[in-house]
Amino acid sequence: MDNDWEYLVTWTQHGHSLLVDHKEDMADFTTGLTFLEVGSDRGEGSTKVLAELALSLGMKFVTVDMDDAVSDKVRPVVEAVHPEFMAICAKGEDYILTLPDNSIAVAYLDAYDTMPPDRMLPADMAQPYSRLGGWKNHEAWRMHLIASMALDFKLVPGGLLCFDDTWRKNGVWASRSKGYMALPWLLVNGYREVAYVDGSILLRKWRPK
Ligand SMILES: C[S@@+](CC[C@H](N)C(=O)[O-])C[C@H]1O[C@@H](n2cnc3c(N)ncnc32)[C@H](O)[C@@H]1O
Repeated sequence: MDNDWEYLVTWTQHGHSLLVDHKEDMADFTTGLTFLEVGSDRGEGSTKVLAELALSLGMKFVTVDMDDAVSDKVRPVVEAVHPEFMAICAKGEDYILTLPDNSIAVAYLDAYDTMPPDRMLPADMAQPYSRLGGWKNHEAWRMHLIASMALDFKLVPGGLLCFDDTWRKNGVWASRSKGYMALPWLLVNGYREVAYVDGSILLRKWRPK
């Protein structure tokens, strides 16, 4: 296990900014597809920014969080952007399975919380995880892997998938990072790296020429 905490705190950007910076890469998606966020805004401001991005692209928008307090807080925010935009309280990996195949154009995976191996999640942040059997660092890796495998059926060819808190160290996906297990799977299953900034990575799903 490596401890990358000092490295992590130097970053200023999150995955939602990377997505906004790549709006042009979303221009050729058919309107009516869904923009999905897994892990709703808990203070970094992602949900409103992404809902507005989805609106500007003519997409539907859904944000999913397992914590009902988080979902209840962001619901008026997304509904103010568009009355049909939704904030769902569910495990993201379960919710993804309920969606029609090929219905998602862009997905942002920023669920769960990870900590360096020598640190525990603060008690107030860990409390909502009691309904998932308690917070465990490695569950973040598993959750993002399972969500990615489920998303592979739901993302359109050429669809975009962004991870937050995911970085390489010496060419290897860091063990604290959310995509530690998902990224190796995605990169051998038809996804290619579009951009990588400050611990956020944007991938594009393979599409026929
Ligand atoms: C890092 S925060 C999300 C931050 C948000 N994207 C932002 O930038 O403001 C992680 C969120 O993931 C949620 N979460 C944890 N496990 C989850 C799961 N399996 N499915 C959906 N949400 C989950 C937590 O409740 C928490 O609100």
